[in-house]
Amino acid sequence: MEFYDDNLNVYTRDFEKVDIDAASLSKGKFESYMLKEIFEIPQALKDTNTTLSETDLPLDFIEILKNTPIINIVACGTAYNSAMAARYVIENLTRIPVNVEIASEFRYRNPIILKDSLFIAVSQSGETADTIAAVKLAKNLGAYVAVITNVASSSITNFANYTIHTKAGTEIAVAATKSYNCQLCAFYNLALYILKYRFNKDIKKYQEELYKLSYSAKKLLKNTEELITLAGQYSFNRSVFFLGRGLDYAVALEGSLKLKEISYIHSEGYAAGEIKHGTLALIEKGTLVVLLVTQKELAEKTMNALHEVKARGANVLAITQLNDIAKDSSLNHVIKLPEVDDLFAPVLEVIPLQLFAYYMARARGNDPDKPRNLAKSVTVE
Ligand code: AGP
Repeated sequence: MEFYDDNLNVYTRDFEKVDIDAASLSKGKFESYMLKEIFEIPQALKDTNTTLSETDLPLDFIEILKNTPIINIVACGTAYNSAMAARYVIENLTRIPVNVEIASEFRYRNPIILKDSLFIAVSQSGETADTIAAVKLAKNLGAYVAVITNVASSSITNFANYTIHTKAGTEIAVAATKSYNCQLCAFYNLALYILKYRFNKDIKKYQEELYKLSYSAKKLLKNTEELITLAGQYSFNRSVFFLGRGLDYAVALEGSLKLKEISYIHSEGYAAGEIKHGTLALIEKGTLVVLLVTQKELAEKTMNALHEVKARGANVLAITQLNDIAKDSSLNHVIKLPEVDDLFAPVLEVIPLQLFAYYMARARGNDPDKPRNLAKSVTVE
C-alpha cells in the first residue's frame, strides 16, 4: 500500500494493529448482522461497563468534570438519541445543565460555547462529517472536547481532548443497535465520574445497577416469539407511533428511528403529553401505538395518552417493567421488562424496540442489514 499527498508525492504512514477478530466480521449462526449485533448486547454492556468503571481518568479531564458549568452534547441519528437520554440522566444525577443538539445544526447557528466547558460528541463510527465539524468548531471556541466512540482509532479522536471508548465491538449492520446501548452506558459512567470527582459521592449502588444490565439484557433476549408474532400482525400498518415521557420519550425517538430506517414504515417518536397538540389527528382505527412506561413517577400521566389513542381506535403495545401498568386491561399487548431501576431502564427497553423493527423489516421482505438509501457512516455533509 502506498500513500500520496495532494501533489502525488509518496509519503509514509504509521500502521496500527486494530483489535478486531474474524468472528466479529461474520454472521456466525445468525441470519443477519443486525440480529447478531442485538444478541451481542449483553456482552457489549459487560465489556463497556467493566472498562469504563475501571478506567483511570487523566487529570485534565477530572478538572473539567469538577468545574464545567454546563455540558453540551452533539451527535447524529442514533447517537443523538442516546444523548437525548443522557440529558435526563446527567441532569437528574448531577444537576449540571445539559444541552443536546443535532451536529448538523450546531455549527450553523453561531453557537455560544463557554471556554473550558465540557463538550461531548457521540459517534459510533467516529467518521460522521457533521459531528467532526461540530467538534472542530467547539474546540476553536475553547471547549474541552470529549468524544464517545466505538472505534478507538477513528478520525474524530484526532480532535478530542479525551476519548471514551465504548466496547460494543464491530458493528456492521447499518442500523445501530448494540452501540446505542453502550453509548447509554458511557453516559451513565460519565455521570458517575462527576458524582465521584465533583461531589465526592459514593457511586457503588449505581455501579451495581449498571452491572446488572448485562444479565437482564440476556434474560430479555430469551423470549423473542411475542415480537415475531406482533411484527406479523402489524407489518402492513401505515404508521407506528412511539410515545413516552421523560427518559421514555428519549427511547421513543430511537424506537421510531429504528423502525423507519429498516422497515420503511412511517413512524414518529413523540412526547406522550404533546400528542394532543397535533399528532392525535393521525391516529385512526388499527394504528399501532407503542407506549413506553418505565418511569414510575410519570407512569400515570403517560397512561392518559393510552386512553386518548384508544378512544380513536389505536391498538396499544406497552413496554414496561411496572407490574401495575402491565396489568392494565385496556392494553392490547404488553412486553414485560426484567426488574430495573427507572434510571437505567432505557438500556433494556430499547431491546424489544430494536427486535420489533428487525422483525417488521423481515416480515416485509426487506434486508435489515442494508436499508435502502442509507450508509453506515455518513462522511459527507
Ligand atoms: C442509526 O441506526 C443510523 N444508521 C444513523 O442514524 C447513525 O446513528 C448516524 O448516522 C450517526 O452515526 P455515527 O454514530 O457513526 O456518528
